[in-house]
Amino acid sequence: MKIGIFDSGLGGLIITKAIRKAMPEYDYVYLGDTKRVPYGNRSHEAVYEFTREAVDYLFKKENCAIIIIACNTASARALRRIQQEYLVSYNSSRKIMGESLRKILGVLIPTAEEAAKYKKVGVLGTLGTVSSNSFPEEIKKRNLLLFHGPHSNLNMVNETNIAYAKKSTSFFSFTRVFQNSAPMLVPLIEEGEKVLAIQFLKKYLKPFLNKKLDAIVLGCTHYPFYKKEIKKILGKKIKVISQDEIIPKKLKDYLLKHSEIEKKLSKNKKAKILVTDITPNIKKLSQKWFGKNTKLECIQL
Ligand code: DGL
Repeated sequence: MKIGIFDSGLGGLIITKAIRKAMPEYDYVYLGDTKRVPYGNRSHEAVYEFTREAVDYLFKKENCAIIIIACNTASARALRRIQQEYLVSYNSSRKIMGESLRKILGVLIPTAEEAAKYKKVGVLGTLGTVSSNSFPEEIKKRNLLLFHGPHSNLNMVNETNIAYAKKSTSFFSFTRVFQNSAPMLVPLIEEGEKVLAIQFLKKYLKPFLNKKLDAIVLGCTHYPFYKKEIKKILGKKIKVISQDEIIPKKLKDYLLKHSEIEKKLSKNKKAKILVTDITPNIKKLSQKWFGKNTKLECIQL
């Protein structure tokens, strides 16, 4: 069985490359919904529907044991509902037939876990991710989990515990989170418009400049491209939380802890790239971001 990676478009190839570098032994299938990208400006419902269709395809047609939603917008706007509705019903029918259960993970929670270690954090994301408020909420939950220690669980994140934690201000404080959306960055990065992209980056990062941030979360598949430029704009001292560095480690840990999934994964070092639309630019970008021998297969969701 394979590891599936889903993104709204091709940006997720950056993280896929990093995951594959960290764990080359497994077989991967990437699905980029290039026909309907970008998801960043779409409604909750549309992002949910598209993501559910993609996940369903990866499980049923590609036999994935586990799927990583590499898209921040989909992780923010669709993942929880997919886990609670689609996955519960899909797995319950598998359970009845005695078949193995499947998993879906996102990129938001592992990123929030990292961000919760800092006092003041900026989050740059798409309009959809920022307006969902998912990063500030998840970072707050992780603050409480860190505060309550390694044996705590998410059920502890209730009003009583928040009030208790707030009272103990001498040694507890929530991470202060500042967000900004960067709607022009994805299209400019995809067009390879570096000069313009940097001008927009400066504009989008401006509200963070006087905040004395400890860290900045790159909350979108495409932003790792400009990691260096972002650091340059915000100052050398800032910690850049970039998913191409975090997710491979977190996935490795996850598979170590979940041997019931790991042992089902095939190990032939293969990677297949599926897209929902092919144009010359899509071909060019996939080769630029994943390697010059990248071959695309077009599918219909
Ligand atoms: N993949 C999206 C994300 O990480 C960016 C592109 C889009 O808007 O669909 O939020």
